[in-house]
Amino acid sequence: MTSRNIQKIFAAFKKIIELHHTLCYNKVAIDSLMERCLSFLMHEAHELEFPRFKRDLTSEQMLRVIFDYTAKIANERTLDNVLILMANMGREMVVADRCSVWLIDERSQELFTTVAHGVKEIRLPLRSGLVGHAVETGEPIFIDDAYTDTVYRDVLLSGAIAVDKRTGYRTKAMMVVPFRNNDGVIIGAYQAINKMTEAEVFSGKDLEYLTLAASYSGKSIESVMLQNEIEETQREIIFTMGEIGESRSKETGNHVKRVAEYSYVLALGLGMPQEDAELLKMASPMHDIGKVAIPDSVLKKPGKLTDEEYDIMKAHTVIGYNLLKNSNRRILKTAAVVASQHHEKWNGKGYPNGLREEEIHIFGRITAIADVFDALASDRVYKKAWELDRILNLFKEERGQHFDPRVVDAFFEQLPEIVRIRDTYQDQLPEEAM
Ligand SMILES: [Fe+2]
Ligand SMILES: [Fe+2]
Repeated sequence: MTSRNIQKIFAAFKKIIELHHTLCYNKVAIDSLMERCLSFLMHEAHELEFPRFKRDLTSEQMLRVIFDYTAKIANERTLDNVLILMANMGREMVVADRCSVWLIDERSQELFTTVAHGVKEIRLPLRSGLVGHAVETGEPIFIDDAYTDTVYRDVLLSGAIAVDKRTGYRTKAMMVVPFRNNDGVIIGAYQAINKMTEAEVFSGKDLEYLTLAASYSGKSIESVMLQNEIEETQREIIFTMGEIGESRSKETGNHVKRVAEYSYVLALGLGMPQEDAELLKMASPMHDIGKVAIPDSVLKKPGKLTDEEYDIMKAHTVIGYNLLKNSNRRILKTAAVVASQHHEKWNGKGYPNGLREEEIHIFGRITAIADVFDALASDRVYKKAWELDRILNLFKEERGQHFDPRVVDAFFEQLPEIVRIRDTYQDQLPEEAM
């Protein structure tokens, strides 16, 4: 409770007592004054509980916000999370209702931001809107009221005001602050909306704070972006290698893509952390990479394999593992596990090592079911896809035999999403093959 409010309430009580003494002969007057005082007190109490305005941070609070957030940001590996943390830090520092951090994607000439965990990023053409203007000129933008501003009227009408109409929000004050990397190049901008203090407009001090917030996190953004770039390159290479492995065998088009997506959904369905699920998604396309070393006479043989040929075929797991095992890269290490274990079975009857139950890495157990499902659920040049019910029956039978029971359960829980992936990434087979 602020001292200003305590004083107000005290004054109100004093007034009631005074009135009681001076007007005690007039009951109506006292009642009416009591009522007014009571409603005043109720209003004050409501203000105390739900204050309309907040206060700017004290320097102590400001320091705490900066320390808290910069520590968290420095430990973040994903760009989405860095953007969200930066936005939250900025919002607290300048006491705004909303705050977002926009970055420039040079390759696509777009601006992008992430507003919440798990929500797809928002993208806009580079030169659009207030943010586009600020990053182009390098100058901050202050708007006291979006509805009366004349300088950016057109941009506001098609931007903030149009969004307000759809959402019922009321944008008033806005501030956009471009920020730079260590080389002085503008890499993005902060956008803050609605100042929540009594002033209701952003000030030069707020500009300083957001610039400070950006300079603290600029380095993290750059290193995370670089990390993303590296991982994206790795992902592309790994995916292409996976496709090479599959293209040598009888698998078709989108098989590795679908296995990656199924594995991801199953990992999340099992409650694994997002980061692990992403890792598996990147690594699982490599499960059959060892097939590059299997001779065509075996790999492409139309009929049944002899025992000897089958042994050669089974070696693709060991070959894949040996190709990948020496890498120190997280993704390739994971890919080595998946390549080695995707034909192991929960009951110990799989290959190459006859591992059982939890001796098989969870990534191997997940990829196993993703791979089998895809092999059965997709049309191949040499066979039609199985009906879904037939596959589900098989999985029920194989629960605790071929497959980890928990992964089968997750599969059934995630079935709508699994089917959606199957339908999204269908293969285009040549007509005569169908
Ligand atoms: Fe395989
Ligand atoms: Fe496969």
